Amino acid sequence: MGENIVENIKLLKSERNAIILAHYYQPSEIQELADHVGDSYYLSEIARDCKEDVIVFCGVKFMGESAKILSPNKKILMPDLDAGCAMSDMIDENGILELKNKYPNAIVIGYINSTAKVKAHCDVCVTSSSALDILNNVDNDEIIFLPDENLGGYIAESFPEKKFILWEGYCKYHHNIKVCDIIHLKNKYKEALVLVHPECKKEIRDLGDYIGSTTGIIEYATNSEKKDYIIATEEGILYELNKKNPNKNFLIPGESISCIDMKKTTLKNLYETLLNMDNEVVVEETVRVKALNSLLNMHKLAE
Ligand code: 13P
Ligand code: SF4
Repeated sequence: MGENIVENIKLLKSERNAIILAHYYQPSEIQELADHVGDSYYLSEIARDCKEDVIVFCGVKFMGESAKILSPNKKILMPDLDAGCAMSDMIDENGILELKNKYPNAIVIGYINSTAKVKAHCDVCVTSSSALDILNNVDNDEIIFLPDENLGGYIAESFPEKKFILWEGYCKYHHNIKVCDIIHLKNKYKEALVLVHPECKKEIRDLGDYIGSTTGIIEYATNSEKKDYIIATEEGILYELNKKNPNKNFLIPGESISCIDMKKTTLKNLYETLLNMDNEVVVEETVRVKALNSLLNMHKLAE
């Protein structure tokens, strides 16, 4: 197999009428061979609209589940079904039901980084790229937002007239980014711009010249004239940043920011998944039908 593995993946992909989707945090070699690479919103649209029978989703579980919810007739495979998202597991059905009981008049807005069972109790989903647009189209004054307290806090700052009830979840990789590591890089690269994902804490967002999703960060850096950028998000994004901007300098604060679950995809397990057609994402139909509403509302309200 060896170096032919990429060719064999491509061959199997066409035999199976499959498409490979990858998030920007995936390993470089996976992004390189994927048919589409993008942020959570873009990938959810491709999963909804693509014509292939099979989607191999190189990402984490909530992404595969969202694809299945939107496209129940397609087979959704993941190279490693254990690739989860610790933040999405920080709230369960009981947690959301408790909040709904306590705030019966609030609309429930769920980050797409949540389980299918939780989405089934949400009114609308958002992604980091679509959240502000969606909130502009929501009339309610009282909003339950879950599970990411940092993204929720970022949104709440833009809508001070609304009351936000935030679940205290977080992504440990973004939450642990340190102010001192950013200042250290800024002292060394005086002209550097700081580009921040909204899953970061407020003290990090406050240092940002730009705050946005992975796609937003890539577009901002690509359209800017500056040479140096401090990138406050998962380091898989460097692959696309460097590809689009070979003459610019991208710096990750601290030693490394690497999501262990995003790195569970390998060429080997991707190949084996296409060969064996196993590792299928399953969402119970009653849950799927309820969760679909929140994702359809996301696509509708983001327009
Ligand atoms: P986006 O790619 O939508 O910015 O989301 C990042 C993320 O949390 C993926 O886990
Ligand atoms: Fe979840 Fe954070 Fe990993 Fe994204 S980077 S999948 S939010 S744990």
